[in-house]
Amino acid sequence: MAVSIHPFDTALGAEVRGLDISRPVDEESFAIVNDAYKKHSVLLFRNQELTPQQHIAFSRRFGKLEIHVLDQWCHADHPEILIVSNIKDKDRHIGVPHAGRYWHTDLSYMVAPSRGSLLYAIEIPEQNGRALGDTRFASAVAAYDALSEEIKKRIADLSATFSLAHHRSKLMADGADENPLTAEQQAKVPVAVHKIVQENPLTGRKCLFVNEGHVVEIVGLAQEESRELLAMLSRHVTKPEFVYRHRWQVGDLLMWDNVATQHIAEFDYALPQRRYLLRTTLEGVALA
Ligand code: SIN
Repeated sequence: MAVSIHPFDTALGAEVRGLDISRPVDEESFAIVNDAYKKHSVLLFRNQELTPQQHIAFSRRFGKLEIHVLDQWCHADHPEILIVSNIKDKDRHIGVPHAGRYWHTDLSYMVAPSRGSLLYAIEIPEQNGRALGDTRFASAVAAYDALSEEIKKRIADLSATFSLAHHRSKLMADGADENPLTAEQQAKVPVAVHKIVQENPLTGRKCLFVNEGHVVEIVGLAQEESRELLAMLSRHVTKPEFVYRHRWQVGDLLMWDNVATQHIAEFDYALPQRRYLLRTTLEGVALA
């Protein structure tokens, strides 16, 4: 079956049909997928059956993979894979339990934030036959385009600080059973500074690069002004008209562009409802 692309009826996202990504993907099919990735920012591949090796092999077609700084939750045999899960082995979480608790883009706290992530669903919680734990994606490109010229001018040269330590403090303050970063982890991810309007390295299109999960403050503004501007921009980018909501099925592989989008996961389930997904994360380039 030939590969075909089916855009969603939303500001971003498309389904790719006709591709079994457990097998080597030929150049022609890969080019179609890669073009669709640039155009739609979020791609869905349904009904996949992937081993970790196959997941990694497909991900590597798009570039080098990150080993996540939260290495306690990397797959023991395949450290390029980050486990995203609420499951516990005795008292210990087997994966990141609070991934996606706030709107964010993966690794935006690094000098070179990730260019994209590929998340594969193995167990999805459900209630009365309805899947729980949806993930919502917002188009930071459509959100930027919709800003008034006045706001575009106001934010054009502003930068913000991004920090994983800040993110984890926020989680703990909100009552999550999380730990601070170790000194070794902290040394790997010092605070990063990025312009809040970025040109997507993949497409050249401008996008709004601030998120509630990782941003600490806007550089050079008084605390209150920074807080208000961040809150306004975060509210704007996540308006329903810029959002696609993904209801997971087992066997879905969802990939997204981390500069052009933001995402958040729903926490509307709890053990014994189990959620277990595996994520690879693509290296990005240093952003301004
Ligand atoms: C993530 O933030 O990468 C995970 C999103 C999810 O668990 O749905």
